[in-house]
Amino acid sequence: MLRNKNILIGITGGIAAYKICELVRMFKKNDANVKVVLTPNAKEFVTELTMDTLAQDRVYIEQFNTTDKKPEHISLCDWADIFIIAPASANTIGKLANGIADNLLTSLACAFTGTKLIAPAMNTGMWENRFVQKNISALKNAGMHIVEPESGFLACGTCGKGRLASVEKVFNEAALLLYENQALKGKKILITAGGTRENLDPVRYIGNYSSGKMGKALADAAYNAGAEVTLICTFEETKPYKTITVNSALEMENAVKNEAQNANCVIMAAAVADYRPAECSVSKIKKDKNEELTIKLVKNPDILANLCKNKKQNQIIVGFCAESDDLIENAREKLAQKGCDFLVANDITRKDIAFSSDYNEVYILSKDAPIKKIDRSTKENIAKSILEIIFKGENSGN
Ligand code: C5P
Repeated sequence: MLRNKNILIGITGGIAAYKICELVRMFKKNDANVKVVLTPNAKEFVTELTMDTLAQDRVYIEQFNTTDKKPEHISLCDWADIFIIAPASANTIGKLANGIADNLLTSLACAFTGTKLIAPAMNTGMWENRFVQKNISALKNAGMHIVEPESGFLACGTCGKGRLASVEKVFNEAALLLYENQALKGKKILITAGGTRENLDPVRYIGNYSSGKMGKALADAAYNAGAEVTLICTFEETKPYKTITVNSALEMENAVKNEAQNANCVIMAAAVADYRPAECSVSKIKKDKNEELTIKLVKNPDILANLCKNKKQNQIIVGFCAESDDLIENAREKLAQKGCDFLVANDITRKDIAFSSDYNEVYILSKDAPIKKIDRSTKENIAKSILEIIFKGENSGN
């Protein structure tokens, strides 16, 4: 989706500069073109050689390079589709907010009229400094996009807000900004991910091996394509879109019911337990009291089937099915039994795909189209293909 997009990345002098190596790689892996500009202070934290090698282009630092006919701050501005400054130091933020252009990076920021994405990173005291906050507000008011720093352990040894947002978040934010007018803009998409945990007592649960990677990849892909995404998952997740963490099937059912009301599309990628213990012991079950233990299980509600029964007009509902035998036959049956619009089927016996793997290979069944196979690929790629297939009919008016 980022193929041939021109990404200009400005790095300022902060310890988080080393994380930008990974950001550059993420863009390159997605076939984008990357050019890197460093402030003179940034050179203290990352080497030109590292950045040259990762970006496969020379690094820009000098403000007055006479080899180009156009001054660099003009030619780079013409080239870039987006200008990301990460990490953005308090110093550089102060300069941007006041129109100061005393090095190549700040001159570029001054001259560039396109989309700017700023990811600040600094010590908590600096971040909370009222002048820094005033400068941040000024940048926001000027239409720049800010990826807020996160709270956590900082390189200076303290704990608090100021840590650079994850590079994944910066990447996703940039991808979203580049694709503001994308196919899924205006769509509300609800996705579930992960395996539910059905508690037996305060210590133990019945669970499954679902990693939630497929659901997460779908949520990221939908978000990057401009959709308003809600991810209901069985793990903690920090994402630039709404996430809700649940534990059991009943909790998931509740969250799905609330969130599905306004969703244009619901994708149930979660591995929901079919049964739960009839009782959850308040205290830990002790082995000395039981030589044998019998656990009575009761059936969980089928969230997907109930959703399909109460389907809203024009809502698209997608189910997943993980099978170990007769994949297509079982998937056909499940599609009819659940009543969903699409069913994504994968074979869980294969070691090179599905559970916990970063790869998948799926078949997509639908009520009125032939089965489509998406060959083995990363879950990121599979997610994009699934979304394309789901929304293809809509976009072509079918
Ligand atoms: O029936 P089975 O578990 O094989 O169906 C899988 C699909 O149904 C998945 O999309 C899963 O998220 C959903 N499901 C559900 N509620 C359950 C069990 C599965 O929504 N109790």
